Amino acid sequence: MGIEINQIGSTFAAEVTGIDLLRRLTNDEVSAIEAGMDNYATLVFHDQAFDDDQQIEFSRNFGEIELAEGAHVRTEAQRRLKLELADVGNLDLDGKVFDRGDRRRMFNLGNQLWHSDSSFRPTPAKYSLLSARAIPTAGGNTEFADMRAAYDALDDETKAELEDLICEHSLIYSRGQLGFSEFSEEEKKIFTPVRQCLVRSHPVTGRKSLYLASHIGTIIGRPMPEARALIRDLTEHATKPEFVYSHKWKVGDLVMWDNRQTLHRARPFKDTKEVRDMRRTTIAGDGPTAAQIAA
Ligand code: OGA
Ligand code: MN
Repeated sequence: MGIEINQIGSTFAAEVTGIDLLRRLTNDEVSAIEAGMDNYATLVFHDQAFDDDQQIEFSRNFGEIELAEGAHVRTEAQRRLKLELADVGNLDLDGKVFDRGDRRRMFNLGNQLWHSDSSFRPTPAKYSLLSARAIPTAGGNTEFADMRAAYDALDDETKAELEDLICEHSLIYSRGQLGFSEFSEEEKKIFTPVRQCLVRSHPVTGRKSLYLASHIGTIIGRPMPEARALIRDLTEHATKPEFVYSHKWKVGDLVMWDNRQTLHRARPFKDTKEVRDMRRTTIAGDGPTAAQIAA
């Protein structure tokens, strides 16, 4: 049986069956997945028992892997996984669950705010691929929101107002929303805000989408409170249930999403002692969405 793609969300997101991602894929299979990504923006695969190298190899089919540098507060010595993998789980180097107040845990809690991966980098991410290695017994879903449908639902006046706006994104802003404000001088430098367009067009389908994220701290040319109020309103609009697909994880699931067309967020789980081991590979985007100011 060949590859099959069936929509599962109301406006986007699809489940893919009939394919084993651990083997080397044919060009046709890669093209089918890419076409699925263009169409549905989020794809769900089940029973893909990746190890890290297999996940990296599969990811390379879709472009260059963005290295997990400069994106969190783990030091070099605290890194549990290869540089090609972003560690979004809750395990220490020795496989122990983080204590409640661990700085790395608190920093990762920022993933519970709606965001688009690496929008705080000058060249933000194209795809993310998240593999579930261990999951808690209850809770811990990941939610996705369709930024094309959210854009389409805006009135023409709002679309015109947003068309040319440029936002500043930084991890300092998203973590700041949760009261996480102690950054070293080095971290402050790494997390210098970058500029991104607020409205993007998909390079293949041409569909426009809202490019939102909790990483946004201001809009160029607007007072910060006005910018933040607008971003809050837009995010509230864009994440209404009609635009959201909620993924309940099973071990072996791989979910792949297009960061140019979707937002996502982790949901909490009650028992903070349970293991949630989730590993992400990230495909770099083609380039910046807006001109940066010289440092
Ligand atoms: C990510 C992310 C959410 C989750 O991997 O980029 O935001 O539910 N993950 O772990
Ligand atoms: Mn993320």
